[in-house]
Amino acid sequence: MSDAPLLSAIGLTKNFGGFRALDSVSLELYPGEAVGLVGPNGSGKTTFINVVSGVYTASAGTVMLRGVGIEDLPPHRRARLGLGRTFQVPKPLGNLTVLENVQVALRYSKAVKNRDVDPLEFVGLADLGDRRANSLTTMQQKRLDLARVLALSPSVVLVNELAAGLSPSELSDIASLLNELRKTGMALVVVEHLLGFLEAVVDRVLVLDAGREIFSGGLKEAFSDDKVVEVFLGQ
Ligand SMILES: Nc1ncnc2c1ncn2[C@@H]1O[C@H](COP(=O)(O)OP(=O)(O)OP(=O)(O)O)[C@@H](O)[C@H]1O
Ligand SMILES: [Mg+2]
Repeated sequence: MSDAPLLSAIGLTKNFGGFRALDSVSLELYPGEAVGLVGPNGSGKTTFINVVSGVYTASAGTVMLRGVGIEDLPPHRRARLGLGRTFQVPKPLGNLTVLENVQVALRYSKAVKNRDVDPLEFVGLADLGDRRANSLTTMQQKRLDLARVLALSPSVVLVNELAAGLSPSELSDIASLLNELRKTGMALVVVEHLLGFLEAVVDRVLVLDAGREIFSGGLKEAFSDDKVVEVFLGQ
């Protein structure tokens, strides 16, 4: 582990009018680390990802990538600096082919020459390169979403419910993909409801409830924590 965090989110707050969806949430992420972001529906997980990736402007707090403040940058500039994210509902360019979707991302990347893995090969879609993106199943679209992110050679990837709806074999497949990415030094924030999947992928979890951090630590410890248990049983 290097001594400088790749990503530091400090005191991130997001208000929608009078409603505070995210309340002073902080997270530091080091190279090769994977942190699970967990919490009931509406607890602020996607809002956190949107604020970190720049889809929403933070109401308060800072976001740093390798120590450099990026909170004033739009999403595409953050992506170019190595901050990738996937979407809870995948958003491919539907009328383009699978290959074209990745090529669009590649064109945009600064770090093309450093990539030694083909993104479509990596996510298992190499044989479907000619298919229109909107003809893919949701699961295939999620893989394509990941391939498009990887085309940007990111150092940090925010993964928003990639595993939801996958079969057990697809789950273990995606878990190994994410673990392979970690081995290259990539850091991951993994939003997920499935505990088995989290167990296979993350080192620790940050648990949110109503926009606030209620726990940060190991996955096993989380589920012997009274507050966490209460929030999940109360659902
Ligand atoms: N653009 C928005 N405008 C107003 N309220 C919003 C907006 N985006 C999110 N919210 C609200 O903020 C809260 C947190 O939503 P968020 O999508 O971050 O939850 P989540 O933890 O990702 O939930 P889920 O598990 O259902 O995906 C919810 O109450 C949601 O309705
Ligand atoms: Mg969400």
